[in-house]
Amino acid sequence: MVNQAYQLPFRRVGQDVFIWAKAQILSPERISIGDSVIIDDFVFMMAGEETILASFIHIGAFSSVLGGGYLIMEDFAGISSGVRVFTGNEDYLGGSLTNPAVPSPYRLPIRSSVHIKKHVIIGANTVIFPGVTIGEGAAIGANSLVTKDCDPWTIYVGSPARPFKTRQRDKIIELEVKLRSELYDYQGNYIPKIQRKPSKRRKGT
Ligand SMILES: CC(C)(COP(=O)(O)OP(=O)(O)OC[C@H]1O[C@@H](n2cnc3c(N)ncnc32)[C@H](O)[C@@H]1OP(=O)(O)O)[C@@H](O)C(=O)NCCC(=O)NCCS
Repeated sequence: MVNQAYQLPFRRVGQDVFIWAKAQILSPERISIGDSVIIDDFVFMMAGEETILASFIHIGAFSSVLGGGYLIMEDFAGISSGVRVFTGNEDYLGGSLTNPAVPSPYRLPIRSSVHIKKHVIIGANTVIFPGVTIGEGAAIGANSLVTKDCDPWTIYVGSPARPFKTRQRDKIIELEVKLRSELYDYQGNYIPKIQRKPSKRRKGT
């Protein structure tokens, strides 16, 4: 199994990062990656101005990041399959010519940012527009269109995405605290898989 994580010239890459062989990552020198991150086959990621992937992040197969702007994904954020994240846009309202085949100054692409906060999960085939911040712990149902900021610990569905339910915060935070106590040393350094003592399996797992 080929892992591209330690072959591409990322700005930073942590430990236990696995990038499958058929993922395509453009401008890796503009991408920083934390620890325990998985990027599946057939992900297409253009780094844009800058991309920051923190730790415990998954980007599912056939997802893409395009648009040339900034992307930040905080710890424990996940993107499932077929998600489209756009960090920039064209002028759809008629102020310029559009599309990357047109040279400047005829084209006026808008570079923006997408910020996906801690514990966010994004359902399959969702589209995320530029300029959006998805609040901590929010969940986005499959096939949604996220055009505006999303409130923390809220589940959104639909096109455009609207609040649907609240998400259980306390259990997720409790599990994060437990995981950090096991997977980080007393100085706050991540303990890679290879150095971990075999843990007792939880009952029923
Ligand atoms: C949003 C979600 C979490 C809601 O789950 P839930 O609370 O169990 O919802 P239910 O299945 O009980 O559905 C409740 C209603 O919401 C609707 N609904 C559910 N998910 C929806 C979605 N993504 N978009 C629009 N409507 C949705 C249902 O049709 C149902 O409508 P009805 O009351 O008119 O029949 C879930 O449906 C979802 O989209 N999960 C993402 C799954 C995914 O992408 N997995 C990929 C692998 S990680």
